[in-house]
Amino acid sequence: MTSTFDLMQDGRASKIASRKFWIIAIIIGVLAFIIGILIGKYAACDTPSDAVIPEKDGVFLPGVPDAIIKEADLSIRDLLLSSIDSKNIETYLRALTEKPHIAGSPEDEDTVNYIKEFWENVGFDDVQTATYDILLSYPDKDNPNMIELLNENDEVIYQTPIEEDVLTPGKNNTEGIPPFNAYSPKGIVTGQLVYVNYGRVEDYIHLDSVGVNVSGCVAIARYGKIFRGSMVDIAQKHGVIGLIIYSDPADYAVPGEGVYPDAWWLPGSGAQRGTIFTGQGDPLTPGYPAISSAYRYEEDKVEPPLPKIPAHPIGYTVAEQLLVNLGGAAVVDKWKGDINITYRYGPGFLDDNWKVRMNISTQRARRNSSNVIGIIKGAVEPDRYVIFGNHRDAWVYGAIDPSSGTATMMETARAMAALVKSGKWRPRRTILFCSWGAEEYGLIGSTEWVEEYIKNLKERTIAYINVDISVEGTHSLRTLSVPLLYRAAYDAAKLVENPNATEIAAGRKTVYDTWLLNRPWKINGEMYGTPEMKAMGSGSDYAPMIQRAGISTVDFGYSYNEHGYNVSGYPLYHSQYETFYAVKNLVDPEFKYHQAVARVSAEMARNLADSLILPLNVSDYAWNMENLRISLDSDYGAYLRGNISNYDDLQMVIKELGAEASRFQEKVKTINKNDPLLTRMVNDQLMLFEKSFLDPAGLPGRHLKKHMIMAESSTDSYSGSSFPGLVDLLFEIDKATDTNARWDQIRQHFSVILFTIQSAASTLRDVTLFHY
Ligand SMILES: *[C@@H]1O[C@H](CO)[C@@H](O)[C@H](O)[C@H]1NC(C)=O
Ligand SMILES: *[C@@H]1O[C@H](CO)[C@@H](O)[C@H](O)[C@H]1NC(C)=O
Ligand SMILES: *[C@@H]1O[C@H](CO)[C@@H](O)[C@H](O)[C@H]1NC(C)=O
Ligand SMILES: *[C@@H]1O[C@H](CO)[C@@H](O)[C@H](O)[C@H]1NC(C)=O
Ligand SMILES: *[C@@H]1O[C@H](CO)[C@@H](O)[C@H](O)[C@H]1NC(C)=O
Ligand SMILES: *[C@@H]1O[C@H](CO)[C@@H](O)[C@H](O)[C@H]1NC(C)=O
Ligand SMILES: *[C@@H]1O[C@H](CO)[C@@H](O)[C@H](O)[C@H]1NC(C)=O
Ligand SMILES: *[C@@H]1O[C@H](CO)[C@@H](O)[C@H](O)[C@H]1NC(C)=O
Ligand SMILES: *[C@@H]1O[C@H](CO)[C@@H](O)[C@H](O)[C@H]1NC(C)=O
Ligand SMILES: [Zn+2]
Repeated sequence: MTSTFDLMQDGRASKIASRKFWIIAIIIGVLAFIIGILIGKYAACDTPSDAVIPEKDGVFLPGVPDAIIKEADLSIRDLLLSSIDSKNIETYLRALTEKPHIAGSPEDEDTVNYIKEFWENVGFDDVQTATYDILLSYPDKDNPNMIELLNENDEVIYQTPIEEDVLTPGKNNTEGIPPFNAYSPKGIVTGQLVYVNYGRVEDYIHLDSVGVNVSGCVAIARYGKIFRGSMVDIAQKHGVIGLIIYSDPADYAVPGEGVYPDAWWLPGSGAQRGTIFTGQGDPLTPGYPAISSAYRYEEDKVEPPLPKIPAHPIGYTVAEQLLVNLGGAAVVDKWKGDINITYRYGPGFLDDNWKVRMNISTQRARRNSSNVIGIIKGAVEPDRYVIFGNHRDAWVYGAIDPSSGTATMMETARAMAALVKSGKWRPRRTILFCSWGAEEYGLIGSTEWVEEYIKNLKERTIAYINVDISVEGTHSLRTLSVPLLYRAAYDAAKLVENPNATEIAAGRKTVYDTWLLNRPWKINGEMYGTPEMKAMGSGSDYAPMIQRAGISTVDFGYSYNEHGYNVSGYPLYHSQYETFYAVKNLVDPEFKYHQAVARVSAEMARNLADSLILPLNVSDYAWNMENLRISLDSDYGAYLRGNISNYDDLQMVIKELGAEASRFQEKVKTINKNDPLLTRMVNDQLMLFEKSFLDPAGLPGRHLKKHMIMAESSTDSYSGSSFPGLVDLLFEIDKATDTNARWDQIRQHFSVILFTIQSAASTLRDVTLFHY
C-alpha cells in the first residue's frame, strides 16, 4: 500500500516538477533575452562593475519614463507669459473691491466663496478651505471711538470725527469700518498731551534730553518710520497711557500736488487703520494652530502680550486741532511735519488746564476666518511644493493692499490652470495657490496654516512666492528675497516686457532693466551692479514661511520712487480711499504694471516648479552673509572685537561657507542628470539649505522666530535686520542696566550663530560624511 502510494506520489511529483522546469526555462529565456538587449544597450561598458554605473548620456534605469529626467519645456514659459492678461486682472480687482471685507465679516466670507468658485472654475486639481477660530478685534458700532479736547471745566471743545470724509466719486456714504487700531484695549484715558515724533526709541531718548517727561501722558505720534505695534509697545514702556497716531502731510502728501480723489496723496481726514499686536498668528494659540482642540490662553496671559494702552489713528486735519493747541518748547527741525503750525513737544496745552481724553471702545472677538487653497498636482514630484500666496482680507476696500496682489495671483492661477487643462503642461512639482485670511491682524491665516501643516511643509516646500501689494506705484519693481532666490528673481524679471513704453523707447526692454536703473543695489556704500534686493521683515505672509519653517521666500510688487517722494508707504495705505477708483484713475489705468508683476511671479513659480535642477544659488547666501557681517562690523565691530574673544571666527566661518558653496555649485554643474536619485539628492540639499539656518530655540527673547539670519529687528517689525539676534542684544547696550549680563547673552548667541553657519556648510558636503 505504501509503495503504490509512494509511486503515485512520485508520479504526481514528477509531473509537477516537469511543469516547474518549463516555467523556469521560459523565465530564463525571457531574462536572457532582456539581458541580451541590455548588454547591447550598454555594449560600451568594458568592465562588469561599470554595468551598474550610469553612462553620462545613457538612461540610468531602463524603463524610467523620460519625463523624470527631462529638462523643463521652455515653450511653456512663453505660452504662460503671453497668456497673462491685464484685462482679466482689472475685472478681478473690480469684483474684489466692490465691498469692504474686513477679516471675519460676512463680506469676507463672500470673498472666500468668490475665490473658491473661481479656482474650481479654472480647473485646479483640488480646492480646499482651512478655517481657524481666532481672536480678532473691531470698534463698537454703537459706541464709536473718539478723542476729545477738554477745557478747564471738562467741557468738550473739540471732538474727532468718527469717519473719514466721503470723497470717492460715485459713492455718497461710508460703508467700511471707521479708522481704528486692532487689539487696542477699550478704555477711557485723560491726561496731558505730548508729541513724540515717530514714536521710536530714539525719539524718547531725545525727549529725555530736552527734559520732557512723557510718563502719565497721552502721546501723539506720527506714522512713518516703524511698525505701529512697535510704536505702541515703546510708548507703553515709557509710561504713556494712550497713543494717538496720525499721518502727517510731510510723510503722506506733497504741498501743491493735490490729494485724493484728484491725486494719490492722502487727504486730511484719511487715517491709517492697522493692528498694534506685535506677535504673529492668533494671539490666543501661539505656536499651534487655532483648531478645535487647541488650548487657548487667557487674553491677559498671551505672549507676546496684547497692547495694554488704548491707541487710535487719525488724519492730519484732525491732528491739527490737537497739535495747534499744544504747549511746551518748539521742536527741533527734524521733528517738524508739514502742518502749518508751530510743532511743540508739550506736555500739556497752551492753556495749562486743558486736557485730552481718549474714549476707545474697540473690542476683541473670536471669529472664524478661512484660507482657500488651490492645488495643481505635480506630474513627477508631487510631494515637492511651490507655494504662491497672498491675503484676501482688507481693512476697507483694499484695492491696493491686498487686492492688487490677489487680482494678479488669480490671473497667474488662471493662466497656469488653463495650460494644465489644455493638456499642454503639468508642472514637475506641485503648485499651491493660497488666499490667506486675517493677515491684517497679524499674519494670522498663513501662520495658523503653517502651524497646522509644518510637518508636511517644512521638508517638502521649495519656495514661497508672496504678492501682497502688487502695484503701489509705477517707478520700479520692488523685491524682498532670501539670497537663494536672487538669481531666479532676476531671471524672471529679465523675461518680462517693460510695462512702460517710454522706458522701452529708451532701450530698457524688460522689467529688469528699469529695476536696475531705478533701484541699483548699493551694498555697504558700493554699487553692486544688480538691482536691489531687500531683506525679509515681517510685513506680510512670507514671515511664518521663512521664520517658522525655513522656507525660501520672495515678495514682488511695483513701487513708487521712495527716494524722490520721501514717503514711507503709499499715502492711501489702510484708509477707506484704497478704492478701485484710485487704482484705475491714479495708479495703473491700463493694469500693465499689474500684468508685469503677474508675469514675473508666474515665471518664478514655473521655473521653481519645473526645472530639473532647482534654480537656487547657495553661493549667493554666503555672499550676502559676508555683506551682513561687514555691515554689523561697521556698526558694532569695535565693541564686538573688544568683548568677544573669538569675534573674528565669524568672518572665517562665512568664508568657509562660501568655499563649500562654490564647491557644491561646481558639483551641481556636472552631475549626471540622467540619474533621478542623484538629482533628487542635490535638489534636496538645495531645498533644505535654508532650513539649516533654523535653530530650535529661536532668537533670544523671540522663541517662535527660528531663523537665525532672516528676521526683523525687534524695535521695528517691518524691516529686515542683519543678524537680528545680535543687533537686538546690542541695541542701546550702553544704556543697559547690567552690561555684563547682556554681553554674556551676546557671547552665547554669537556661538549659536557660528555653529549655525558651520552646520549650514556641512549640509553642502557629501551628506554621508559627518566630519568637518
Ligand atoms: C465714551 O463714549 C461713550 C459712547 O460713545 C459714551 O457713552 C461715554 O459717556 C463716553 N465716556 C466719557 C467719559 O465721555
Ligand atoms: C446716494 O444716496 C441715495 C439716497 O441715500 C441713494 O439712493 C443712492 O443710490 C446713493 N448713490 C450712490 C452712488 O451710492
Ligand atoms: C515723570 O512723571 C511721572 C508721573 O508724573 C513721575 O512719577 C516721575 O517721577 C517723573 N520722572 C522724572 C524723571 O521726573
Ligand atoms: C500758515 O499760517 C500762517 C498764519 O496762520 C498764514 O499766514 C500762512 O499763509 C499759512 N501758510 C500756508 C502755506 O498756508
Ligand atoms: C467656527 O465654526 C465652527 C464650526 O462651524 C463653530 O463650531 C464655531 O463656533 C465657530 N467659531 C466662531 C468663533 O464663530
Ligand atoms: C515711464 O518712464 C518714464 C521715464 O522713462 C517716467 O518719466 C514715467 O513717469 C514712467 N511712467 C509711469 C506711468 O510711471
Ligand atoms: C526728500 O528728501 C530729500 C533729502 O531730505 C530732499 O532733498 C528732497 O527735496 C525731498 N523730496 C521731496 C519731494 O520732498
Ligand atoms: C551662483 O552665485 C555665484 C555668486 O554668488 C555666481 O558666481 C554663480 O555663477 C551662480 N551660479 C549659478 C548657477 O547661477
Ligand atoms: C565692550 O562693550 C562696551 C559696551 O557695553 C564698550 O563700552 C567697551 O568699550 C567694550 N570693550 C572693549 C574692550 O572694546
Ligand atoms: Zn497686505
